[in-house]
Amino acid sequence: MEYMPQPLRVLVTGASRGIGRACAEAFAQAGHTVTAVARTGDQLASLKAACGEHVEVLVADLTEDLQLTGTYDVVVLNAAYFAPGGLLDTRDVFGESFTLNVLANHRLARQLLPAMRDRKSGHLLVIGSTSTDDTSPHMTAYAATKKALRALYEGWEQELIGSGVRTTLIAPGATLTSSWDGQELPPRMLAAAEVAALVYRAVTQGLTGRIVLRADQP
Ligand SMILES: NC(=O)c1ccc[n+]([C@@H]2O[C@H](COP(=O)([O-])OP(=O)(O)OC[C@H]3O[C@@H](n4cnc5c(N)ncnc54)[C@H](OP(=O)(O)O)[C@@H]3O)[C@@H](O)[C@H]2O)c1
Repeated sequence: MEYMPQPLRVLVTGASRGIGRACAEAFAQAGHTVTAVARTGDQLASLKAACGEHVEVLVADLTEDLQLTGTYDVVVLNAAYFAPGGLLDTRDVFGESFTLNVLANHRLARQLLPAMRDRKSGHLLVIGSTSTDDTSPHMTAYAATKKALRALYEGWEQELIGSGVRTTLIAPGATLTSSWDGQELPPRMLAAAEVAALVYRAVTQGLTGRIVLRADQP
């Protein structure tokens, strides 16, 4: 990879809370410049209040076709919607979440990756999930979207080999965030900051490929 400018220009989707917010904070606290995307303006404002000039907020709904104008060295595709649900349940969780969990990432990658490839520099990080490995019935709809995202990631990874652009798929296990509101919590969970620390380390140490992180990992 060619030299990446410092401070890094970092885009984080779904940065108002949870893992995305922790990623935004990790990069901002290290002095990088973060563009934080989400729909909820007041949560983004509190991130900005905590991180100051290192964060710029972009209030946007990623299920709409967002046209980005900035140049980014690091892109963290994190935003996703989780709800328990099977494919044949009354509530169509797969249909509800597909646009955000899959299509929005496809659109952003098509916008952002060609410029990185032309610059022969940059790092794309995708937040996947261990749900693509561990099938459980109440996770079917969500896991189907994450499997589609994993397939897209594997395609981007292949297409960017030798381009100078790094690609990493971070696959966390259960992580304590608002995704779990109203649900029974598993006995062991990751903290959002642990996932963010891995994302940050992947960028600073150039870790690529699929990396699984579980709470019970030694
Ligand atoms: N938590 C877990 O156990 C776990 C485990 C494995 C993988 N993951 C993955 O980790 C990532 C983050 O999960 P999380 O648990 O941190 O989620 P979360 O706490 O529910 O946060 C989701 C983020 O996405 C944003 N978002 C939701 N809909 C959006 C939309 N239409 N447009 C723009 N932004 C939107 C939310 O902000 P607004 O509502 O303000 O828009 C929020 O910032 C996801 O990819 C998830 O699949 C989570």
